[in-house]
Amino acid sequence: MKDPRTFHVKSFGCQMNVYDGARMAELLEAEGMTAAGDGASADLVVLNTCHIREKAAEKVYSDIGRLRRDDGTRPMIAVAGCVAQAEAAEIPRRAPSVDIVVGPQAYHRLPAMIGAAARGGRAIDTDMPAETKFGALPARRRQGPTAFLTVQEGCDKFCTYCVVPYTRGAEISRPWAAIVDEAKALIDAGAKEITLLGQNVNAWEGEDETGRVQGLDGLIRALDRLPGLARIRYTTSHPNDMTDGLIAAHGDVETLMPYLHLPVQSGSDRVLKAMNRSHSAASYLAILDRVRAVRPDIAISGDFIVGFPGETEVEFTATLEIVSAVNYAHAYSFKYSPRPGTPAAGMDGQVDAAVMDERLQRLQALLTEQQMAFNRATVGRRTTVLLERNGKKPGQKIGKSPWLQSVHVEGDAAIGDLVTVDIASAGPNSVGGILVSPERKAA
Ligand code: SAH
Ligand code: SF4
Ligand code: F3S
Repeated sequence: MKDPRTFHVKSFGCQMNVYDGARMAELLEAEGMTAAGDGASADLVVLNTCHIREKAAEKVYSDIGRLRRDDGTRPMIAVAGCVAQAEAAEIPRRAPSVDIVVGPQAYHRLPAMIGAAARGGRAIDTDMPAETKFGALPARRRQGPTAFLTVQEGCDKFCTYCVVPYTRGAEISRPWAAIVDEAKALIDAGAKEITLLGQNVNAWEGEDETGRVQGLDGLIRALDRLPGLARIRYTTSHPNDMTDGLIAAHGDVETLMPYLHLPVQSGSDRVLKAMNRSHSAASYLAILDRVRAVRPDIAISGDFIVGFPGETEVEFTATLEIVSAVNYAHAYSFKYSPRPGTPAAGMDGQVDAAVMDERLQRLQALLTEQQMAFNRATVGRRTTVLLERNGKKPGQKIGKSPWLQSVHVEGDAAIGDLVTVDIASAGPNSVGGILVSPERKAA
């Protein structure tokens, strides 16, 4: 196989995978390769995979099959991400056309692996090396008005259904200075909004430049002081790491957007215990009360699993009840998927697929209704929107409100502008806005 000159990275899964995909692309560009528009013509295709549910994990094998071209050739194929970590050498056994398997903590070694594959070898690296990938990656490049920045990786929580502690390893926090430098590089490259990422981003901890130990709130306050940065977000947070400081930051840091993704998974304390979530329904609600006390308009988002082993109809109803108590602006809900090697996969009382389907439908109907109600309640508000991309209609632009709603606006404004908008109409998945002033707010 010849040395690849063009590449295509396709990312699945969570935002951290999207971040990793962007960093891999930057790395390959720094090696002199060029991004191809899609996988059809690229010399190298990187499938950056997700292992969280069975469907996501199995998808990689059909995707590999589809990379074979009409003339019988195929690109060099690299499987990266969490399936790579979890299945490693098993991947080339199931899909012999795979040349490279690289785990989420080892992808800074991709250039050497590509060299080995070009010489006819197969390269597998799922190390979780002590030196982290971050130091070995090139500087950030221009990528539009919004950017992701991974500050924390891995998870020590070991929820009984979840593969992440195995695929991403133990919790690590990136150092303060590395994060601040990356944020500055992103701002220089045009980013006006930065979303801080971590599997448990609010478990981030580090020493600031004076040696003082800080939590995520301290980091957010430092980034808030960077000139040019208009908006800060973070995701995903765990209820047990919602510190007093972080809650307070929602009340007084102006650039911290009024949006909190705080998964609860279930409203039943019995199920939460079996999930090893180490919070109760009541303690979760108490956190939201405190957040809403300092920031009444905050949009709350969550994740839910229906059909965890042993979940009864009454326990499922408790999930509907907690949803009713919270009023979510947005949410993700999933059918439980047994994952190899996790404790829940071996538990008694695996729930029937039809029962799971039916529960998911009821839950999603309620969540959709709440999302619609949230959008409707913002009609009439004047707010800021950061324009991210062109819409389908001529002159239409799409951006995000502070509450992470997609906002459609028409008028004289450019992508990357932070504009003032009156929200005038609401749909289930977006709202329509009227441009008040295209004034570029000084951030
Ligand atoms: N660290 C985050 C979530 C990471 S995974 C947290 O703890 O909240 C994202 C979501 O996928 C989880 O919140 C959960 O709702 C869902 N999920 C994880 N494992 C799953 C499984 N085995 N089956 C179904 N959904 C799952
Ligand atoms: Fe998975 Fe739980 Fe860790 Fe979230 S906190 S990544 S659900 S083990
Ligand atoms: Fe999937 Fe790995 Fe993210 S399993 S959800 S890509 S951490």
